[in-house]
Amino acid sequence: MVKFLQPTQWGKLSLSNRIVMAPMCMYQADTNGVIQPFHFAHYTARAYGGVAMVITEATAVEARGRISDRDLGIYDDQHIVGLQNLVKAVHQSGSLIAIQLAHAGRKSGIQNQTAIAPSAIAFSQDYGTPKAMTLAEIKDVIIAFEKAAIRAQKAGFDGIEIHGAHGYLINEFLSPLTNHRQDQYGGSIENRTRFLKEILQAVRKGFKGEVWVRLSAEEYAEGGHHVLETIQVLKLIQPFIAGVNVSSGGVVPTSIKTQPGYQLPFAKQIQEAGILTIGGGLITTFEQIEAALDTDCHLIYLGRELLLNPYFVLQHIKKHAPERMLKPYQRG
Ligand SMILES: Cc1cc2nc3c(=O)[nH]c(=O)nc-3n(C[C@H](O)[C@H](O)[C@H](O)COP(=O)(O)O)c2cc1C
Repeated sequence: MVKFLQPTQWGKLSLSNRIVMAPMCMYQADTNGVIQPFHFAHYTARAYGGVAMVITEATAVEARGRISDRDLGIYDDQHIVGLQNLVKAVHQSGSLIAIQLAHAGRKSGIQNQTAIAPSAIAFSQDYGTPKAMTLAEIKDVIIAFEKAAIRAQKAGFDGIEIHGAHGYLINEFLSPLTNHRQDQYGGSIENRTRFLKEILQAVRKGFKGEVWVRLSAEEYAEGGHHVLETIQVLKLIQPFIAGVNVSSGGVVPTSIKTQPGYQLPFAKQIQEAGILTIGGGLITTFEQIEAALDTDCHLIYLGRELLLNPYFVLQHIKKHAPERMLKPYQRG
């Protein structure tokens, strides 16, 4: 059997194959963070298109934690019912669905609100200077993650991916480039990981499904994290996660040389350190997927390819195991 069609485990979740849909912000929610008909079409198309698991776009745990005012939210009980309907719709296809819980931190683009961050350092001249969080504010955000996890449980999600990548709030705590705190949340790598660790502990209290993180394994900047530091972070949180969705960049403005599979070497190094990975980045062919699975990563995420071609996986299921196509599509 081709590798991508092998059923597998991701923690306690049973996946029918090895391909997941990458989280991708669509900026189509209403201005209160409420899900719209667009999202049902968007996510169910990829689920019926054969991905084993959909990971939703970054979904904010606080209103001020949105990247834009059209982000999805899970910061209010009014968000539950729409998300619950989405989960039901995706489950009908046989796919699993996880929600990416996020807080934009200093990269929030919400108007008329002061963004928060571990330290009062702006991302760039295009962003305002954030407010350095007090210990009470840190606690509030951890509670916001816990409440979001309880809502995700009520909505029926199979998994939660904590967004710790791309220079958003959690990443800002992890990176020495953005965290200049002098208290228990800054300084050593243990201290910089404390915020993420406490979030994971809180989320696990409220959520019975599987939990993992997304991290920027490489920050592409002097003094920032590289893969070895990322592995150190992961070792500190390993008891609380099924694995890691490996991404890179976004912490400070810097140019990144991209090429097909450019992030897979990071995933490989992490997996060799004993932590299961979801890897990807500019993956667009069956051959790339087969070459990467097992050696570089346990699961593959597809992002932009699925934007263009929601039936990418289905087309390959048809080629390699037509009997596994969903019945309504078998005559395609
Ligand atoms: C439109 C768009 C929105 C994205 N939004 C998110 C997001 O909400 N959360 C996240 O972790 N990554 C986000 N990403 C990054 C993707 O998950 C993925 O890592 C990246 O696109 C590389 O994979 P690809 O080459 O298969 O697209 C986004 C990417 C795109 C293109």
